[in-house]
Amino acid sequence: MKVGIIGSGGREHAICENIKNSSKIKKIFCFPGNAGTKSIAENVEIDLENFENIKSFILKKEIDLIIIGPEKPLVDGLVDYLEKFNIKVFGPNKLASQLEGSKIFTKQICKKYDIPTAKFGIFQNPEEAKLFLQKTKYPTVIKADNLASGKGVYISKNEQEAYLAVEEIFNGKFGKADNLLIEEFLNGEEMSFFTIHDGTNFKIFETAQDHKRVEEGDKGKNTGGMGAYSPSRLINKELEKKIINKIIKPTLNGLDELGVKYKGFLYTGLMIIDNEPYLIEYNVRMGDPECQTILPRLKTDLLEILNACCEEKLNKINLEWLNKKSLCIVLCSKGYPEKIKKNIEIKNLEKIVVSENEFIFHAGTLQKDNKIYAIGGRVLNFVAISNNFNLAKKNILNNLKKLNWSDGFYRRDIGYKVIK
Ligand code: AMP
Ligand code: GLY
Repeated sequence: MKVGIIGSGGREHAICENIKNSSKIKKIFCFPGNAGTKSIAENVEIDLENFENIKSFILKKEIDLIIIGPEKPLVDGLVDYLEKFNIKVFGPNKLASQLEGSKIFTKQICKKYDIPTAKFGIFQNPEEAKLFLQKTKYPTVIKADNLASGKGVYISKNEQEAYLAVEEIFNGKFGKADNLLIEEFLNGEEMSFFTIHDGTNFKIFETAQDHKRVEEGDKGKNTGGMGAYSPSRLINKELEKKIINKIIKPTLNGLDELGVKYKGFLYTGLMIIDNEPYLIEYNVRMGDPECQTILPRLKTDLLEILNACCEEKLNKINLEWLNKKSLCIVLCSKGYPEKIKKNIEIKNLEKIVVSENEFIFHAGTLQKDNKIYAIGGRVLNFVAISNNFNLAKKNILNNLKKLNWSDGFYRRDIGYKVIK
């Protein structure tokens, strides 16, 4: 098969690395990919907003299957567009992608189907929001309604911080804002729960714990993710059943009533309080860096799984996982998630020889004249699988030390809840 992967992050490099070993693979294209995918696939420089060009390229190269990594093209309706031309695509369509594209859409489904989530209010202007903030309990959570790569969420400790959040959101820091959400703060432990769907059937695609804050000790600004481990320490059979029955199935019913079938990965972001799940958010894709953390544990051929989803035959496939622990530490450019310097060379990368249980997935990197440059906030993902989290982390830190990139930084405490 010829396969095209849309995206340029660590998630897409991990998918690329995984499917290159499939017995069915003939060629991989990445749109646009990064320095890591370049050694496996043909990177195609193409504007992801120009659907017509993407479609023409796919048809010209006779690509059999398209896998969409990030949320933006999904929310923009790339699946709907490509399917009109009989192109096989793995990912949810535009309406289903509203689960991530609009927090308000999701909250309305939660309300209708009694799905456990934080209490919330929707506000259309700063005055109304501020009036509410004068009498609410703190900390409180303020969210932009639009896509913001995990950065449009404020946990405000007091009124002053909350006012600033309201101003920033309505002033367009995360794009044009017609609404914002103010939510009750849920005090528990987070877990990312993944499922994979073929429109009719779905299967659990493992769990992970992400570290979203930029500083050690889970402090500082929210980011796209500074590291993760899998499986989550919180998962157990009882909790799994509750998540499926109280959250995922009612959501799928809600979509069904709107005439929508869900095909693709679904990432359920949860807060767990006393073994009870509360929905924080949905993402209509794999997590990044959760994907890089989870895929190395997958034994079943990923390409066969994704292809089966596109043919509504997921029930024919048995997902098998390595009984290992996996950890990922993200190396970022200094300044992330705020201002970063671009085009800084990363030396020494070729000096790191990874074992079969270690991986380096590229994210914001570019290869030019045989040199690797950092061009984004999150640059490289160092992953290791092992019999325990401790050992996995030790191996990663060893590799990070060998790289010794002085223009970058990373959190040394990833997995602190599972590592003594
Ligand atoms: P989101 O983009 O909605 O996933 O929010 C980003 C992060 O903000 C989450 O991963 C949580 O750490 C935090 N967060 C969001 N909503 C809440 C909430 N209601 N209570 C506590 N923390 C929250
Ligand atoms: N790691 C968080 C996300 O992918 O949204």
